Amino acid sequence: MGESLSTAAPIGIFDSGVGGLTVARAIIDLLPHEQILYVGDGANGPYGPKPADQVREFSIDIGDYLVDQGCKAIVIACNTATAASFQILQERYEERYDIPVFGVIQPAVRRAIATTRSGRVGVIATEGTVQSGAYDDAFRLLNDDIEVVSAACPRFVDFVERGITTGRQILGLAENYLAPLQQAGVDTLVLGCTHYPLLSGVIQMVIGPDVTLVSSSEETAKDVMRVLSEKNLLAPESKLPHEALTEDAVMREPVRRFETTGDPERFAELARRFLGSMVGNVTATTLTN
Ligand code: DGL
Repeated sequence: MGESLSTAAPIGIFDSGVGGLTVARAIIDLLPHEQILYVGDGANGPYGPKPADQVREFSIDIGDYLVDQGCKAIVIACNTATAASFQILQERYEERYDIPVFGVIQPAVRRAIATTRSGRVGVIATEGTVQSGAYDDAFRLLNDDIEVVSAACPRFVDFVERGITTGRQILGLAENYLAPLQQAGVDTLVLGCTHYPLLSGVIQMVIGPDVTLVSSSEETAKDVMRVLSEKNLLAPESKLPHEALTEDAVMREPVRRFETTGDPERFAELARRFLGSMVGNVTATTLTN
């Protein structure tokens, strides 16, 4: 740890499972030349029902692994882990080694504030995130006038991890979870769990077309781009194969590694469904070098 950072080093991204791929995709869209190292913590997820100090330990284990692998930035692509460990990971990597650490809560709050007209915003998230009060704190910090109505949706993650994103069961569940937010008349709904954008069809159908869904992925990706650019850490803009004019100029696609502490085949199947062909080999990791 602590050697000077290389622009060619990967961006480390982690989540309890496949949800963080929604953030990874936004980062890859904005920064197609960057190497990526994604870790899904399938062995320990879901994080939502777990105590915050346990989630913090999982986050530190993965963060240390990503830093040991030479990552130049760490993206906590999970709201539950951001709520439990953003500050400690910032102290551990950013303050000690100048490795920038990104969470997903503040970017989502920023977007929601820019979106709402009525000032009444809904947040759906895991139990861990809702109980932490991290969204309430972040809204209060940026705009004290916003009224925040939160609801935990404990079973959503489980469905996504099983690859179920449509159908009667998930629709019924969404109707129950979203009823209090409909009653509160929110005009903006924050998808405060990185798994939820994969359910946005069902969520939008239930909450209705007048409510704007906000997810943190694009905003987080913009933060990553801005900070890496300020720190002169963006990967050199090598030609991607389709941009190269001569065969000599053809560079290889940046390496995007996907690892899981759980079952690599299951992860690969879901990840390819959600992220397409940019997911190559998925390898099992025990988080040691
Ligand atoms: N995707 C995660 C989040 O944003 C975690 C879900 C879970 O593991 O419960 O909160």
